[in-house]
Amino acid sequence: MAARARTPTDPIGVFDSGVGGLTVLHELLVSLPTEDYLYLGDTARLPYGNRGSAELVQFALEIADHLLESGCKLLVVACNSASAAALPALERRLAAIAPDVDVIGVLRPAAQLAVAGSRSGRIGLLATPATVASGAYERIIRDADPHVHLESVACRDLAAAIETGFPFDGEIVEAVRGFCAPLRDASVDTVILGCTHYPLIAPMLQRMLGRGVALVTSGAGVARSVERALTARGLLNPRAGEGDYRFRCTAEVDSFREVGTRFLQLPFGEVEHVELRAEAKVAV
Ligand code: DGL
Repeated sequence: MAARARTPTDPIGVFDSGVGGLTVLHELLVSLPTEDYLYLGDTARLPYGNRGSAELVQFALEIADHLLESGCKLLVVACNSASAAALPALERRLAAIAPDVDVIGVLRPAAQLAVAGSRSGRIGLLATPATVASGAYERIIRDADPHVHLESVACRDLAAAIETGFPFDGEIVEAVRGFCAPLRDASVDTVILGCTHYPLIAPMLQRMLGRGVALVTSGAGVARSVERALTARGLLNPRAGEGDYRFRCTAEVDSFREVGTRFLQLPFGEVEHVELRAEAKVAV
């Protein structure tokens, strides 16, 4: 791929396995309205959270290639499972082929917010099996404060249920209650929603965990990191009005638009179907 200098009017690339990353895009659209965005949902290969890390690295590299070829000036990995598995590989790949493009993941902003906000030092994590198995949140939190205790719960199939299950039925409600139980038992005062799909059921989680528990999401922190990175490189879009945003997905377009419209809470833009390569071109 020929390296090309990025310009302030290029779009920001955002990706997730499906609609979960729209919770991050929502924050970006509100915090940085003058930017253009290109969002990719890898719906053909959802859920990411039950997959192994080698596979997630391969998917993330393919998507990064796609977004770079589409002219993006910065990449946001709006997926905890992909961030946990692939952020170092993505950073190495971008340093090699597009050194003026930053890549920002969702784990560190959420973990830092949780550590700063917890009074008791007892923090809960709800995340996919892939994210919990990676141990990435434990490492970031231990580095931030070794005295914080993290209670992690792997919520198998919850992201897929959120993606398809609206309106939420009794089965989902009972599954969520089961995931919350160990966090109640552990008396945490803060819970990281460690999957970008989970803010979509925040009211259910808040009711089950109790009013006094702070729910932490990554969106606002990610938006601040994006703003700092673009400012440092002189790549903030200087336009006065609002930018545009468009969508691509790897499976069927209609259901992505339908679920996405419900969750973005803003008018939905154009959605295009794309095929990704089976393998990333360059080993890292
Ligand atoms: N929303 C993603 C995450 O933050 C992935 C969920 C999934 O596809 O399992 O982990």
